[in-house]
Amino acid sequence: MRNFEFLSPTKIIFGRGVEERVGEEVKQYGKKILFHYGKSSIFKTGLYDKIVKSLKDSGIEFIELGGVQPNPRLSLVREGIELCRKNGIDFILAVGGGSVIDSAKAIAVGVMYEGNVWDFYTGKAEPKSALPIGVVLTIPAAGSEASKSSVITNEDGWYKRSLNVDIIRPKFAIMNPEVTFTLPPYQTACGVADIMAHVMERYFTNEKGVDFTDRLCEATLKTVIENVFIVLKNPTDYNARAQIMWASTVAHNDLLSTGRIGDWASHMIEHELSGIYDIPHGAGLAIVFPAWMRYVYKHSIERFAQFAVRVWNVEPNFESLERTALEGIERLRRFFKDIGLPTTLKEANIGEDRLEEMATKCTEKGEIGNFVKLNREDVLNILKSVVG
Ligand code: NZQ
Ligand code: ZN
Repeated sequence: MRNFEFLSPTKIIFGRGVEERVGEEVKQYGKKILFHYGKSSIFKTGLYDKIVKSLKDSGIEFIELGGVQPNPRLSLVREGIELCRKNGIDFILAVGGGSVIDSAKAIAVGVMYEGNVWDFYTGKAEPKSALPIGVVLTIPAAGSEASKSSVITNEDGWYKRSLNVDIIRPKFAIMNPEVTFTLPPYQTACGVADIMAHVMERYFTNEKGVDFTDRLCEATLKTVIENVFIVLKNPTDYNARAQIMWASTVAHNDLLSTGRIGDWASHMIEHELSGIYDIPHGAGLAIVFPAWMRYVYKHSIERFAQFAVRVWNVEPNFESLERTALEGIERLRRFFKDIGLPTTLKEANIGEDRLEEMATKCTEKGEIGNFVKLNREDVLNILKSVVG
């Protein structure tokens, strides 16, 4: 097990009705805020009115910027930066999912920087300061409510790239599972695939002596796997929604990375897919992750067999550990199908014409992945294996 530092400063406020406390939380950080949200869900669910009331009751002045789309765009980030500067904004409230939160994080660092905010996403510069941000989460998926990441798509070339720094971790995340009752089944499933992917990226490590975090990862995966079927049948099951919502935060606040180094190649490959084809990130992961596993499992058949037995209840095959390992991968793929996700590019209406381009973009800074290093050819092979 490696030495580690663990920082998770986000205050989590979880449970029924907690969104009504947003005003009093915001008040601790800002007087004039940017209220940032997505397209239409917060109006349909009534959340918009509750947030506005709570902000007004707490005497907070706010301006609004809605319209964040899934796979959030750089152009709206630039608009947000201008708006914040013009209005002397001192805090950003993100009400939505990963896309809204990531857009808010990008604005938060962009406001404090004289150069081009995209520099932070290409590695040309590192942000030194950020406006504080707070979150009211509406979809359990990306884990952005407590993560140090922001993922933005630059329309100029359709590059989807991430920034990873602790200063953008939100000050607080308000999480009411009831708010997620309105999520359509497909969006629920996409969220679950992303949560699981965050755990699996960390699970597949070369580090030895990490049994505690292995077990935490397995518990997180098993909980999500069980509860997704409950919410797909009954979208208003509070306790099942609550399990998934809390799991989404823990899957990506870095607790599960303590003492180990994760892989992250599947995420990098997926970001090319959702960057170019604008599919939900979770759907892309359902295609890429089992394919990545089939490509690399020989690197550690033991670890894949452990995953199969402990997470998927595969009966260990003592004569062929490899068969056990492969059965675990197949159960993951079938699970994604069972919850309504694509597992081939064809099922996501993606053709073969841009595979080379994606492999090139994905590896333009060199090999990707830590558990197993992958070059351009490897990425291309993985993509080709899921054409469908
Ligand atoms: O825009 P609205 O109308 O709000 O609709 C949204 C959107 O269409 C809808 N939705 C959200 N809450 C809802 C709801 N519909 C009904 N009821 C509700 N309660 O769901 C759709 C998807 O929203 P989005 O924010 O895009 O989802 P998600 O949280 O999955 O975020 C995905 C983005 O996060 C990035 C992904 O790449 C993608 O761009 N990621 C961010 C990470 C991070 N910052 O740490 C890590 C992840 O690996 C990921 O890359
Ligand atoms: Zn993800």
